[in-house]
Amino acid sequence: MKLDRVFAHPPTFNTDRLRVRPIELTDAKALFEFMSDRKVTERYGQKPRTWEETQAWVRDRLADRSRRGSIYWVFTLRGDSVAIGSCCYWNFEPGFRTAEIGYELHRAHWGTGIMTEALPPIISYGFARLGLHRIEASPLAENRPSRRLLLKLGFKNEGRLRQRVFFRGRYLDQSYYGLLREDWPKPS
Ligand SMILES: CC(C)(COP(=O)(O)OP(=O)(O)OC[C@H]1O[C@@H](n2cnc3c(N)ncnc32)[C@H](O)[C@@H]1OP(=O)(O)O)[C@@H](O)C(=O)NCCC(=O)NCCS
Repeated sequence: MKLDRVFAHPPTFNTDRLRVRPIELTDAKALFEFMSDRKVTERYGQKPRTWEETQAWVRDRLADRSRRGSIYWVFTLRGDSVAIGSCCYWNFEPGFRTAEIGYELHRAHWGTGIMTEALPPIISYGFARLGLHRIEASPLAENRPSRRLLLKLGFKNEGRLRQRVFFRGRYLDQSYYGLLREDWPKPS
């Protein structure tokens, strides 16, 4: 599949509970609900976003698609149109064989298996259609839910990046995870 087409028209996926679709400008209001939540953003070592920053961020993510910088999806509960979380590929290496996966979820839905459900179609798409060979993630070492999620999905822990993130006056470690195409179950 041609990369230009992939970036221009990312697909939509349905799971049991979710509709996972490409991000749109009109998602800013829903995204602001959790991107402005300190309890969410501190999990990845960032300040909460203001409304203006959230709007600019969504515009940037859409622009990213034309410069092959990232692909963002949001997901909604099926039958509803309000985004409760997002997931993405970003940090592509120049040959587009490796990318980083990112994700965040509204706090009201934490711990109900939503992200475990949202990410598999994105991962399958990354390997089967985007041509990735390896997917990476680097959560803060103290972000236990994110590390559990990655292990459940089959990612391997590949080590620790010591004191890599400076946040609220402290240097924090990141844990490094990788998933290879050969590690991922083939579609049945
Ligand atoms: C990380 C995050 C996406 C997990 O999403 P989720 O839908 O709550 O995760 P799931 O319910 O699918 O569960 C995944 C694993 O995390 C564990 N988990 C979820 N919430 C947890 C919590 N508050 N404390 C401890 N473990 C937790 C689950 O128990 C599960 O592991 P298990 O099956 O061994 O029990 C969500 O917590 C989040 O959005 N956090 C803030 C943003 C963030 O950290 N993004 C990632 C940056 S790297």
